Amino acid sequence: MEVIIEANAEKAGLFAANVITTQILRKPNLVLGLATGSTALIAYRELARRHKEGGLDFSKVVTFNLDEYLGLPPTHPQSYYHFMYENLFRHINIDKGNIHVPSGLVLDPAGFCDSYEQEIKAAGGIDIQLLGIGRDGHIGFNEPGSSLGSRTRVKTLTRETIADNARFFAREEEVPRFAITMGVGTIMEARHIILVATGAAKADVAAAAVEGPVTASVTASVLQLHPDAVYILDEEAASALKRRDYYRWIQENKHLVNKVISQQIRARLGM
Ligand code: GLP
Repeated sequence: MEVIIEANAEKAGLFAANVITTQILRKPNLVLGLATGSTALIAYRELARRHKEGGLDFSKVVTFNLDEYLGLPPTHPQSYYHFMYENLFRHINIDKGNIHVPSGLVLDPAGFCDSYEQEIKAAGGIDIQLLGIGRDGHIGFNEPGSSLGSRTRVKTLTRETIADNARFFAREEEVPRFAITMGVGTIMEARHIILVATGAAKADVAAAAVEGPVTASVTASVLQLHPDAVYILDEEAASALKRRDYYRWIQENKHLVNKVISQQIRARLGM
């Protein structure tokens, strides 16, 4: 697990955009897991700019979104499909057939969730998953108490999450109570995971996720068990971390690793 601390939200978002861009350049048919939420907006804006100004090619990229509100049609202004369309998909050259967002309008949610899992498998699994974090520690909509082995399913949102998301709706009563979300186990199968958290409101939960025990009470804490997960925080979100000086120290010294390896190669080869 790696912890990157950037000076502000803008830089944290750009870091995430850089990771995704690098992966698309390396593998044009990347399978990309996407998140909604205001934290992701900076990265999406930058990816759209790189497509427009730099020709970053999404034509072969396949996407899978984490979650969707149950009961909202894709045309609803607060649906996650609509969020993705407005903030990313309509600005890039992605093939519509390669976009996967759970449907909020399913008659058989359990059957739909199974088929979503199958589609991820059939695509070869998720190469890189972008995550945000809720104030209660959720990833996707995996609220506290979600099994750390859970799969895509319907979850009941907590009162805290409903209150947090009410800002996007006219009235709190309009916020859906249920969502379809990839499970914690589904998310953990992604080969590479980046979680972005910014702002002082995320400081306590970021500290719990990064430095607290691995627990279903803070589902983001499970990333501690992932072989290739990176938390990308801004200064405010990192402010409650006990080891933040050490994480900075690691970042400062990282470039030296190559230097040490070069020295060792030269020594071995007698150069
Ligand atoms: C929602 C989404 C999460 C997201 C969270 C944080 O609950 N289901 O995937 O991480 O919002 O949103 P924000 O970035 O707006 O704080």
